[in-house]
Amino acid sequence: MTATLPTAVGAPLARLEGPEKVTGTAKYAAEYRTGEVAYGWVVQSPVPRGRLNAVLADPAADTLAVLWHGNAPRLKSGDDPELDVLQSDRISYRGQAVALVVAGTLEAARRAAQELRLDITTEEHDALLRTDHPGLYTPERVNPAFPAETSSGDVDTALAAAAVAVDVTYRTPALHNNPMEPHATIARWQDGDLELHDSNQHPSGVAATVGALFGLPPERVHVITEHVGGGFGSKGTARPNAVLAALGAKVVGRPVKVVLPRQAMFSMVGHRTPTIQRIRLGAEPDGTLTAIDHQATEQTSRLFEFAEQTTVVTRHMYAAPNRRTGHRLARLDMPTPRWMRAPGEAPGMVGLECALDELAERLGIDPIELRVRNEPAVEPETGVPFTSRHYVECLRAGAERFGWAGRDPRPRQRRDGDWWIGTGMAGATYPTMAQPSTARVRALADGAFEVAIGATDLGTGARTILTQIAADALAVPVERIRIRIGDSTLPKASVAGGSSGSASWGWAVTGACRELRASGRDEATFDSSELVQHQEKDGRHAFGAHFAEVRVDAVTGEVRVSRLFGMFAAGRILNPRTARSQLLGGMIMGMGMALHEEGVLDPAMGEWVNHDLAEYHIPVHADVEDIDAAWLDEHDDRINPMGSKGIGEIGIVGSPAAIVNAVWHATGIRVRDLPVRLDKLL
Ligand code: MOS
Repeated sequence: MTATLPTAVGAPLARLEGPEKVTGTAKYAAEYRTGEVAYGWVVQSPVPRGRLNAVLADPAADTLAVLWHGNAPRLKSGDDPELDVLQSDRISYRGQAVALVVAGTLEAARRAAQELRLDITTEEHDALLRTDHPGLYTPERVNPAFPAETSSGDVDTALAAAAVAVDVTYRTPALHNNPMEPHATIARWQDGDLELHDSNQHPSGVAATVGALFGLPPERVHVITEHVGGGFGSKGTARPNAVLAALGAKVVGRPVKVVLPRQAMFSMVGHRTPTIQRIRLGAEPDGTLTAIDHQATEQTSRLFEFAEQTTVVTRHMYAAPNRRTGHRLARLDMPTPRWMRAPGEAPGMVGLECALDELAERLGIDPIELRVRNEPAVEPETGVPFTSRHYVECLRAGAERFGWAGRDPRPRQRRDGDWWIGTGMAGATYPTMAQPSTARVRALADGAFEVAIGATDLGTGARTILTQIAADALAVPVERIRIRIGDSTLPKASVAGGSSGSASWGWAVTGACRELRASGRDEATFDSSELVQHQEKDGRHAFGAHFAEVRVDAVTGEVRVSRLFGMFAAGRILNPRTARSQLLGGMIMGMGMALHEEGVLDPAMGEWVNHDLAEYHIPVHADVEDIDAAWLDEHDDRINPMGSKGIGEIGIVGSPAAIVNAVWHATGIRVRDLPVRLDKLL
């Protein structure tokens, strides 16, 4: 069959729902009017550890219900103890939901919540991550299923014998997910079935999880997730707001809406663990790496083990005969860390890429050249070939575009008035993943095609890209595709996470469209499970390189990122407009990681003290100056039918290190604990 139509994939199609979003008619979870809705206000524990003995409510308060473990309906215990809300007197972290007040208005619910008295027996707590924590242990696996430790060759001997070695410790702080749209749910029970308007990254996953807690099969839970204002991993699974809304609605017999206030998100939706990373590198005088050792110390909670895969990235970046990676965890009286954009890769590449910059300085070798000299032919730890790897090309092409040639390698050389100027670079990588999904396509009477898949669009453009993929697979213009996503009753799709959405869902959509054409029928459904699970175990990764120019005020220490440029090799770019936006978004989030974002812990109180956007700083428009992203025309037909690698996360990987390295080049100061606050430069 020959398609003569112009291909939709690769065109810079604008987001299909853009007009609805900018005119305010696109509905987010909290905006549905489901009649008689009541409002739930979450009461959070004011202590990090203890027992909740009683909740005393003002009998005069204007409430419909005050739920706590003493009176809440019983849930079946699921896989995630943080969702067993209001089931036990045990308090495991500060900010944990201990009660839900439901009232006819938001104001009445909040007011009554403020008047509640909590009778709590406090216990001693431990909230501080440290490398000499007595409880440190090595987990069996790190997220999602990697061995916690790897080792080959003899690292210690190689380091001792190395002509040049570095042994440095980098720290990254706790970071907090703050999508524009807070987590929100409206729950409604009807004839024993549950309907949730919920902001999440995985409607069918939320239906299954929340259903199990209430003893319902997934088909009796209907999750509607039409539009989502960002997630970054924090909406990858159901969060307590969904369970609380369902509990509240069950008790008061009305729909209940629970929207997390921004302050509550800092403890209730998962954060990125702080990390303490020791990196040791050994090299020959010509820059050839002889040993790499990357060890991370990080935290999890008392409730649940989440082991961030911080050093996994080091397993496939550079060649070296002797290598070791590992992770150690401490269980603290803190909320459980969770996914946050590029969990593992983002903090891990800070350690690795900043340490390489230090090695380049010691060797007197250009940092790009050092990386080129250690380019592996196959995945260094597994020996398997890469499906495609154009890292060196990204380094070279990026350097060209950025204007790296002729850079004076010495730090603290360029000055413009009060400003020290420096440049830095770092590598980027992210795994190429796909997960089983199912799509259905129907030929409609008017010549259009309905394409249905239970995927979600977090604002990334997923809806638009799936439309482009379907148009090409059916060889029709995009105008003839009617895409339906964002609903758990549609064919089951994988989570919008791991930069795998387009690949996973696009695979299923392509399959359904091809089957429709081949069968000649007017409906086809395609489940990609078998194809996805039978992929070869080869090295599947996207690569890139970041380049930063910074200006540091010699008097105040203020850092400005005057230029930030990323060059990527991420397979076929499905839509350059939405792709660029994803890459820039990641790079800007990386700027936040380098310079602004930091959950500041008060160990005595077991809390992050800066739990709002006034005190937890993120980059704003004024922080972003000259920024751009570009990509190589990379073809990889071994990964999926589209040849796409996923671009949601690679932008945040490496961009923080490029900025930190540029700060050193500007000032001569190596800041090894992020963020680079101005007080660290004075
Ligand atoms: Mo992302 S942390 O894989 O949702």
